[in-house]
Amino acid sequence: MGIDNIKKIIFDLFEKNDPFWKVHVLAVVDNSIRLAKRFDADVEVCEVSAWLHDIAKLEGTRENHHVIGSKRAEEILIDEGYDNVFIEKVKDCILYHSSDKKYVPRTLEEKIVACADATCHFDTFLEFAVKFLEKYDYDYDIVKNKIIIKFEKSLDKIMPELRDEYEKRFEAVKLVLGKD
Ligand SMILES: [Fe+2]
Ligand SMILES: [Fe+2]
Repeated sequence: MGIDNIKKIIFDLFEKNDPFWKVHVLAVVDNSIRLAKRFDADVEVCEVSAWLHDIAKLEGTRENHHVIGSKRAEEILIDEGYDNVFIEKVKDCILYHSSDKKYVPRTLEEKIVACADATCHFDTFLEFAVKFLEKYDYDYDIVKNKIIIKFEKSLDKIMPELRDEYEKRFEAVKLVLGKD
């Protein structure tokens, strides 16, 4: 039971997806653990939520992946014998991690997972750019605009304590893309 089985489920899904997702999820996990320690949050809730936060996408659902993923995480965590309180916290971290205006993060753990998901785009910029190039068929103008829009949205999810650092990084991204 526990985190090892959850990792196994996710690593099996990495095999079925393009390499971007492994880089993405591992970075979100790292960032979530680091932020949870820094802000004295529940590290286990943040770590398990990070492993599972995009499970719906990994299983092929893009639409409402936060809603579907939250339900899917519940099934896995019940199977793994986690208690109800823990399961509810993880479900909410997943439900509240995307940019859906209906679900703006409220608890510290929800804010951390949403923030880790957003900072990770900056931390894995190269992988992110490659993914967008493939997605938009190497149309460089479209890709540059889509990256700017995505990163602007990501900035909104970054905790105030980290905002300055990532605003600087956003300026650097714009500079690199010739979009400042
Ligand atoms: Fe997501
Ligand atoms: Fe994500």
